[in-house]
Amino acid sequence: MTDLEQLFTTMEYGPAPEEKSTAAAWLASHQNAFGHFINGQWSDPRADFSTTNPATGEQLATLSQGSKEEIDSAVSAARKGGEQWRALSGHQRGRHLYALARHIQKFSRILAIIETMDNGKPIRESRDIDIPLVARHFYHHAGWAPLIESELPHSTPHGVVGQVIPWNFPLLMLAWKVAPALAAGNSVVLKPAEYTSLSALLFAEIAHRAGLPPGTLNIVTGDGATGRHLVNHSEISKVAFTGSTAVGREIRKSIAGSGKALTLELGGKSPFIVFADADIDSAVEGVVDAIWFNQGQVCCAGSRLLLQEGIAEPFIDRLKERMSHIRVGDPLDKAIDMGAIVDPVQRQQIADYVETGKAEGASCWQAECPLPESGCFYPPTLFTGVEPAHTIAQEEIFGPVLATLTFRTHDEAVALANNSRYGLAASVWSENINMALDVASRLEAGVVWVNATNLFDAGCGFGGYHESGYGREGGIEGLWAYRRSHADLPADLATTVEERPEKPPLDSLPSERLDRTAKLYIGGVQTRPDGGHVRRLVDSGGQPLGEVGEGNRKDIRNAVEAARNGTKWSLMSPHQRAQVLYFIAENLEIRTDEFAKRLEEQGSAAAGEGAIEVHAAIDRLFTQAAWCDKFEGPIHHSTAGRIVFALPEPIGVMAILCPDRNPLLSMLSLLGPALAMGNRVVLIPSERYPLVATDLYQVFETSDLPAGSVNVITGSQPTLNRVLSSHDDVDAIWCVGNRSLAKECEQLSVGNLKQTWTTAGERDWFDPELGSGREFLRRATQVKNLWIPFGE
Ligand code: NAI
Repeated sequence: MTDLEQLFTTMEYGPAPEEKSTAAAWLASHQNAFGHFINGQWSDPRADFSTTNPATGEQLATLSQGSKEEIDSAVSAARKGGEQWRALSGHQRGRHLYALARHIQKFSRILAIIETMDNGKPIRESRDIDIPLVARHFYHHAGWAPLIESELPHSTPHGVVGQVIPWNFPLLMLAWKVAPALAAGNSVVLKPAEYTSLSALLFAEIAHRAGLPPGTLNIVTGDGATGRHLVNHSEISKVAFTGSTAVGREIRKSIAGSGKALTLELGGKSPFIVFADADIDSAVEGVVDAIWFNQGQVCCAGSRLLLQEGIAEPFIDRLKERMSHIRVGDPLDKAIDMGAIVDPVQRQQIADYVETGKAEGASCWQAECPLPESGCFYPPTLFTGVEPAHTIAQEEIFGPVLATLTFRTHDEAVALANNSRYGLAASVWSENINMALDVASRLEAGVVWVNATNLFDAGCGFGGYHESGYGREGGIEGLWAYRRSHADLPADLATTVEERPEKPPLDSLPSERLDRTAKLYIGGVQTRPDGGHVRRLVDSGGQPLGEVGEGNRKDIRNAVEAARNGTKWSLMSPHQRAQVLYFIAENLEIRTDEFAKRLEEQGSAAAGEGAIEVHAAIDRLFTQAAWCDKFEGPIHHSTAGRIVFALPEPIGVMAILCPDRNPLLSMLSLLGPALAMGNRVVLIPSERYPLVATDLYQVFETSDLPAGSVNVITGSQPTLNRVLSSHDDVDAIWCVGNRSLAKECEQLSVGNLKQTWTTAGERDWFDPELGSGREFLRRATQVKNLWIPFGE
């Protein structure tokens, strides 16, 4: 029988290897040795480490480990190049990005081959998915460049941005970072992952040939040490990182207090939920795509399969049958499904997790698909009988390993899906669209696909909740991250605040002269401080003003718990929330004289000027009430044939540390947007002027604000900040206009990776551009991108 006859008989695929001579020629043109690409030029190569083809073990090239000095020179090139880049009009920058997109298409074949050789991913994926998406990102952002000034008003580019990317989608991650950064007017220093630097270097060379001005984009290779130099460089204004949660935490900590903007796209343990009424064949195909795409080395991989009990057995049977047809092999072969794992270190990590899964009692099944005899391969692996607490149900394995759990009811599915410290993506499968959308709305994840998985588009934001990080990449949400809003006041715009007298002495007055002690406000109830301590306050003339409770760790714990349980506020419709905020504003207005007097007495407002601040605060609250049902997300017509709803959702429990300046106005400027967007708040009033807050909760009590929506704890801001920043049940913390607390707040936020908003200087709260607006609302929300199917 001839080979051909045999193939007809067995219906087996013959080998279909991609031709790699152009890639080899490009490597040879560099003598297989690379320096960095800085200021439009190659630095001299040093063979500090090598990059290999994981499918063969063959060394592809040697690379240079970027030193501190090399990062310095790249940042300096970016600073100078950035001036030139920023001086271009949006239209001109758009033309450059458009040229880059065209060049990516022109060089798509060699880019795909280099990617596959360096990373091990199937050529089918790099050719048909990665590189087309790269081109689409540049085209999409070429369009944003001329629109940015009108669409993101009151904002400026950050300047030089430092970007660190992982190895799983090397060129796609570059595109996700570089395209919006350049479109928004920034210049870039990017460090690719040490396993996969080649496509970034090739891209830089292509970009240079396409006429990108020198210094606009600089690539420095190296490992984590080089990344550390980059993110900590004093002239980097924004850091964008994709990679492991551990490194994301380290970066958050190390740049705390520096004023650098930060976005983190981290790990995931995304649920893939199949209800009994799903189209089972489609769902099985979906699973294959969810967990075996790119060998499972995907941050949003559907690595937890949640099956409704009634269909679990037949579903697993069909899945096993399908798995036995997955072809693992040479990634350059166009007919294989799964390629090589990026590196033996990663394969070992996968193997270790699989052993742990078995040791903890789950059942492991691997398809009997033949693996190549050499190279770094791992078979598709399925675990059943997994318990929610098992390591393989909780940890990101980042390999072709699927953990299956079962559920009975919809509520149980949601609870199981949300039982993760991550929240990157989720996939819901059901033919009942009402139910699927209800489940989708309750999932705590930044991306939810209905009856689909792993869909991406440059126009749609991508990014996570919880420990999957913060910030979005793609679409207009992704662009926000590359502009500094005027409301995000940089130090040089800070208005100077006149020096105020030292804080009043705490124990200077006998307590019998005090007329009242304001309590804390927790869960809608006025409560004495746990420690029983009070803080005495005097007016500007030294006369007693009152006492407030000195909150401690336990009071914070109670307040966070009350806020966590105060879900009624978040579940109210935006219209209902608006009514409550209007009511608060009206009730405040009735007490204008009283609040004005308080502001003047305590010395925060000059005599006769208290009412001006009260009126401004009422105005602000009216504005925030108006926003409740008007701050909405766009609807995208994605190229993937789905409609995508970008839904701004509340972050959850927020802590707000209020500044001293204009204590009533600043407090309501911060509290208003947080409440308007449906968050529950633990409010720490100005330490110097807390009585306006304790007066204000009396207004809340007469305004139908549900219990737990706002909880007020007075006391030492540094102490309370420490407790709140490290509290794992607080989802976000704002320290706006409180320079001294910013560093500690950011450093301590790493436990649960809470979102932080800190600003360098004090601000003029009367200025509507600095004290209100969309930036406040964006900061109070996180966007869930919901992909809805339509058509057959
Ligand atoms: P990693 O997080 O260590 O590396 C990602 C990038 O960060 C690389 O460019 C690396 O050189 C750089 N880097 C490392 N330490 C740094 C530091 N201290 N400061 C600045 N940059 C630093 O990821 P790694 O070691 O490659 O993979 C380990 C695990 O991380 C994987 O098994 C997987 O679980 C997870 N991972 C998740 C990714 C995601 O997209 N969510 C991507 C890559 C890895």
